[in-house]
Amino acid sequence: MAFVVAIDGPAAAGKGTVARAVAGHFGLSYLDTGLLYRAVGLAVNRGKDAIAVAQKLDLSQLNDRELRTQAAAEAASKVACEPDVREALIATQREFAQRRNGAVLDGRDIGTVICPNANVKLYVFASPEVRAARRYNELTMQGSECDYQTVLKKVQDRDALDEERATAPLAAAVDAKMLDTTSLKIDEAVARAISIIEQARRDQ
Ligand code: DC
Repeated sequence: MAFVVAIDGPAAAGKGTVARAVAGHFGLSYLDTGLLYRAVGLAVNRGKDAIAVAQKLDLSQLNDRELRTQAAAEAASKVACEPDVREALIATQREFAQRRNGAVLDGRDIGTVICPNANVKLYVFASPEVRAARRYNELTMQGSECDYQTVLKKVQDRDALDEERATAPLAAAVDAKMLDTTSLKIDEAVARAISIIEQARRDQ
């Protein structure tokens, strides 16, 4: 069976950065599952039917820069609350997890729902204030006008939507290793994740 790493956590905790680095380090395929929900959310904003789009989603269509916008993130949080949309995206994610060279998937429900038998589960988190500060810096570097309090409020609202939805809410799997990135630099967080995964590989 392929080696699978499941990485979950709230927005802007650093899980995408950690997941990409881990995939590169161990030569695993990487899927940012948030992009699936973003693609469905954007399609809904354009008048398409959520379930129909989710059922036919093609992973090669996830390079659209629009998917990285705040509008896409907000649309994604809404469609992610629909059980039928989540259901329609399960098969695509599980299929990806079976890639022969192994896979890293990051999202909100990877360790709990999509890949409950993953070889390693990581839950990457940080305080809302630190996550908002990271997002704020990212946005200002891109030249966006924003203020920190508004960004913090958006982070908190998105946490609430992710944690409180009835189907597959954001939660750490009971067997997940916790990685708190609040006071870690990117390379420190990546190094910790690599060391957790190496340990898990030795224990297999
Ligand atoms: O990680 P992200 O910001 O790209 O996620 C966008 C939204 O999609 C987020 O509000 C939660 C949702 N999501 C989800 O419910 N389950 C996943 N596996 C990935 C993302």
